[in-house]
Amino acid sequence: MSSKSEDKSSSDIESNTDAKSSNVVWHTATITRKNREDINKHKSVTLWFTGLSGSGKSTLAHAVEDRLHHYMCSTFVLDGDNVRHGLCGDLSFSDEDRKENIRRVGNVAKLFLEAGVITLTAFISPFKSDRDLVRNMMPHGDFIEIYCKADLETCEQRDVKGLYKKAREGAIKEFTGISSPYEEPVKPEILVNTGNDSLESCVDVVILALLKRGIIRQESLLNEVD
Ligand code: ADX
Repeated sequence: MSSKSEDKSSSDIESNTDAKSSNVVWHTATITRKNREDINKHKSVTLWFTGLSGSGKSTLAHAVEDRLHHYMCSTFVLDGDNVRHGLCGDLSFSDEDRKENIRRVGNVAKLFLEAGVITLTAFISPFKSDRDLVRNMMPHGDFIEIYCKADLETCEQRDVKGLYKKAREGAIKEFTGISSPYEEPVKPEILVNTGNDSLESCVDVVILALLKRGIIRQESLLNEVD
């Protein structure tokens, strides 16, 4: 006899928890995530980069994507500043809106997981509960939290976008690290010292972790595309 979890239909698994749209029925695709992964010759995963503004999340995510692209992997970066120009353009930086930002992005990342893609997300995502919400949306092992560790002093000294200065002057309200909290990850899958270490060595740490987890294969490293 099959177990209860094996009996779960996709409509049970994909139950619509956001109750505003009712009478919607999940349509199961004939082409599966596994089919797409087989074509790509790597597994799909969500690489969730979190850290303060200016900690190097976007820079690192794009550099990892660059390396993976050379290995002929199927990749996509979802970047906080970019997503807030479109999908999340209606959201502020209040705690509630940050929560909604991460919920939306988490759902997009989940779709990309099904699409067979290695998705790299670069969002401050300051609240542990929001990051855990996304983690729990995905099958175990498919959400890899990458803490880009750079202390506030370092980020503020860099101040690439000039936002810390504005926040100190009071021109930007609810600025992470200044007037809004950042909850450090307690047990991230990967910790990179983006405050001290070189970009290349941080990329190496992430690539090595992907190899160790069997997400990409050693043979992929022999691929070369421009
Ligand atoms: S999150 O907290 O909701 O995860 P997200 O990563 O999307 O934030 O956006 C952060 C980016 O928005 C920062 O890199 C910065 O360029 C910009 N930004 C503008 N206002 C703020 C603010 N009040 N707090 C943090 N970042 C801000």
